[in-house]
Amino acid sequence: MRRRDLLRAAALFPAAAWLPRVGSVGSVEAYAVPFARGPVDDDEAYWAEVRRQFLITDGIFMNTGTWGALPVSVLEAIEAHMRAFETVFHQMPFDAHALRAQLAALIGAPAETIAFTRNTTEGMNVVARGLDLRPGDEILLTTQEHVGGRCCWELVAARHDLTLRMFPPPVPAPSEDALFDAWTSQVGPRTKVLSISHVYFSTGAIQPVRRLSAWARERGIITVVDGAHPPGMLSLDVTDLGCDFYASSPHKWLLAPKGSGFLYISPQWIDRLWPLVASGGWDDLALKGDRFDHVGTRNDSLLVGFQASLAFHDAIGTERIEKRCRGLATRLDAGLRAQPGVTVVSPADPAVRSAMVSFTVDGRASSEVIRRLWQMGPVRVRHVAENNLDYVRLSTHIYNNPAEVDRVVGMVGEIAGST
Ligand SMILES: Cc1ncc(COP(=O)(O)O)c(C=O)c1O
Repeated sequence: MRRRDLLRAAALFPAAAWLPRVGSVGSVEAYAVPFARGPVDDDEAYWAEVRRQFLITDGIFMNTGTWGALPVSVLEAIEAHMRAFETVFHQMPFDAHALRAQLAALIGAPAETIAFTRNTTEGMNVVARGLDLRPGDEILLTTQEHVGGRCCWELVAARHDLTLRMFPPPVPAPSEDALFDAWTSQVGPRTKVLSISHVYFSTGAIQPVRRLSAWARERGIITVVDGAHPPGMLSLDVTDLGCDFYASSPHKWLLAPKGSGFLYISPQWIDRLWPLVASGGWDDLALKGDRFDHVGTRNDSLLVGFQASLAFHDAIGTERIEKRCRGLATRLDAGLRAQPGVTVVSPADPAVRSAMVSFTVDGRASSEVIRRLWQMGPVRVRHVAENNLDYVRLSTHIYNNPAEVDRVVGMVGEIAGST
């Protein structure tokens, strides 16, 4: 986006005028967003102010599960860094160390265990391709994995004669216990890896990663978590989760630039995992997570944007964001369940429900429901059509509000009731 477009956006959205100018790049403070930090959880005026930090205009955006919308401050940070870079003589520094530290604090990881990737798909591939698995070793996953967390295993299984074992998880997931039991009852003597989506892309169900990791560790089984969704949506502490690997896409709920991802490699693996891409330093174990970042020239402006999105997130606060996102999802869930002809496939138990709610409408293909929502809203949603599923998925984030949720529920009710 050009500066004049940003200025036009600032005029359209007055609050953007008090967004910080990006003067110096590299410190968290450079992107601090001056939100009030008071007790404003139910204050719609506060959330309306938050909404004004985005360029979302004409409709209801409920597909953060695919990618989040960037706050204007993040766009500005990227643009400022990129423009300065191209002056050649006035380039702004980028402090990877500061970004690592900031991200580490958010996800509960030692900074040196983090590698920067482009997204979850890449992170999952780094792990699958970097482990020394042997013919006959079994990788266990569910039939509801996203291709970004599944295909890396298909590839290594085909190449190294491994066994992929996929089982159907309970849908709707009745409880954490039921999910835990579903996994542990499938583990056999050859199982070497559990590849677990922390939050299913299909239904938003939250998996009991902490319990599964502890259980697996006792049996010498590796836990690889496809964590595309939780950062920016749920409080996260990967050390406490106890998993071996955690791959994520901050471009979703953390509202970071598309193309900025991360992989957590636990201390017990940081010196043992083979890097996917080798360049200078690939075998220098002292580099820790940075050993995996030597992938050739990359676009640091995106990482600067990532840093700005972390500052935006911190300005509001993880707890408040989680409460808002999940609170809206609970409202959506209740509204949809009250509509005749609508079946919610996401968990009824709020402990297992995230900020994504999926449903079907009796007698209607989900593609038709989605087309009608687009015509009526427009409402932007996700069609879950993979793995022989046919759901409509709605995501709720901080730029959504109760009025939008109620409008969408009303539209779904109308679609379900129409002949
Ligand atoms: C659970 C899950 N895993 C992996 C991915 C892939 O993410 P990315 O395209 O950012 O690699 C997605 C994307 O929606 C997802 O929902």
